[in-house]
Amino acid sequence: MKDIRRKTVKELLSSPEKYAGKEVDVKGWVRTRRGNKNVQFVALNDGSTINNLQIVLDLGKFSEDSLKLVTTGSSIHVQGLLVESQGKGQSVEIQADKLELYGTADPAEYPLQKKGHSLEFLREIAHLRPRTNTFGAVLRIRHALAYAVHKFFNDKGFYYFHTPLITESDCEGAGAMFQVTTLPLNNVPVTETGEVDYSQDFFGGQSALTVSGQLEGELGATALGCIYTFGPTFRAENSNTPRHLSEFWMIEPEMAFYEIQDNMDLAEEFIKYCIAYALENCKDDIQFLNDHFDKGLIERLNFVLANDFVRLPYTEGIKILEESGEKFEFPVFWGVDLASEHERYLVEKHFKRPVILTDYPKEIKAFYMKMNDDGKTVRAMDVLFPQIGEIIGGSQREESYEKLRARMEELHMQDMPWYMDTRKFGSVPHSGFGLGFERLVLFVTGMQNIRDVIPFPRYPKNCSF
Ligand code: 4AD
Ligand code: MG
Repeated sequence: MKDIRRKTVKELLSSPEKYAGKEVDVKGWVRTRRGNKNVQFVALNDGSTINNLQIVLDLGKFSEDSLKLVTTGSSIHVQGLLVESQGKGQSVEIQADKLELYGTADPAEYPLQKKGHSLEFLREIAHLRPRTNTFGAVLRIRHALAYAVHKFFNDKGFYYFHTPLITESDCEGAGAMFQVTTLPLNNVPVTETGEVDYSQDFFGGQSALTVSGQLEGELGATALGCIYTFGPTFRAENSNTPRHLSEFWMIEPEMAFYEIQDNMDLAEEFIKYCIAYALENCKDDIQFLNDHFDKGLIERLNFVLANDFVRLPYTEGIKILEESGEKFEFPVFWGVDLASEHERYLVEKHFKRPVILTDYPKEIKAFYMKMNDDGKTVRAMDVLFPQIGEIIGGSQREESYEKLRARMEELHMQDMPWYMDTRKFGSVPHSGFGLGFERLVLFVTGMQNIRDVIPFPRYPKNCSF
């Protein structure tokens, strides 16, 4: 092999005029090989783009024997001239001069053969599925969205604030946490009163994986002004739904001096920015998913960009549901925590666009939300999306030390002096929200199951790979 610097397939296909007529070097995995006794064609993919590069192998130059092991899934290194393609389906191709085989993939064993595979089957081979067109597309879009998140906040002057993954506090109060311990489980130390003696545990107290970085995020916002977190989040609830993961990524902006209206404005602008970024920067991948899985995808994305989100108090939402005449599986009444079917009715049938539902009953929301003057509802805001249901949950925070203390006592919560200090020293109105990153990726890719938008999903009874 000559000493030529490798080009990605994406580079070659996106500026063919720059490389046509030149000798190029590519490396990647064989998607297919076909042809006849005179010439063979390899579709090469290197993961840089959903598109394959065609490699033309002249059997005058390469013996049929030397190509035997160039099968679907094998990895190769090719050098040759990039030329305008003779055939249909691609603009350019490589006329190979030199071919090196890196690794074989025995067709009798390699599970990703040319025929399409079901998403369920691919979940069982999650270690190989990134090599499929579908998962390549999803994972590149996921990357672009993660980049868009950072770009959006950085450009707005927000600071990326790293909150801990191991914590002693249960932010959402739902109690579904994964415990972290180094205590010997077959011989747990107990106190005189027979309780587990956590003072002997690694951190000297009972600790768990975080369900949210918000509480620490509030410490950041009341110092730096506007911050956001973007990290893994863990919930041990036994939810086997297409919308829940046990380990998911959450983005949590927290802003000093923001009231609930500012919070809603930011949430809407943020989601639209991410969707627009993906549409602009992931054209091929989104088009592929649109063509193969969900013919309405691009239209739906553009529709969300073009329309204002509805802003509606919970109480009015309940009224609409009660008067809908719809037969719901779960009952509707004031005070109920809305089920996905209720959220989707409002979004998909009634308003036919995203809805921000506000002012929920305090009983169904977390302790930190700011109480409204009615004493019954809190300044919560959930953003509800077509196909997804809740994509964002957020609120204005209770900034009054006394009110927050009273609410925590009402809920029999343990004191968190470090958190209360935000309200004790220079307390300010502030707000924030959490976006479930995988739910955003679900929406933008049009995939139906959240387990298919993260490389290695974690859910009850599954921690493989
Ligand atoms: O509504 P949640 O529980 O809100 C919070 O955690 C707040 N601390 C956020 C804040 O105000 N800073 O979760 C926020 C979002 C949900 O709207 C949903 O998109 C996502 O996180 N989410 C999940 N995504 C995947 N799997 C799960 N099990 C999820 N639970 C919540
Ligand atoms: Mg929520």
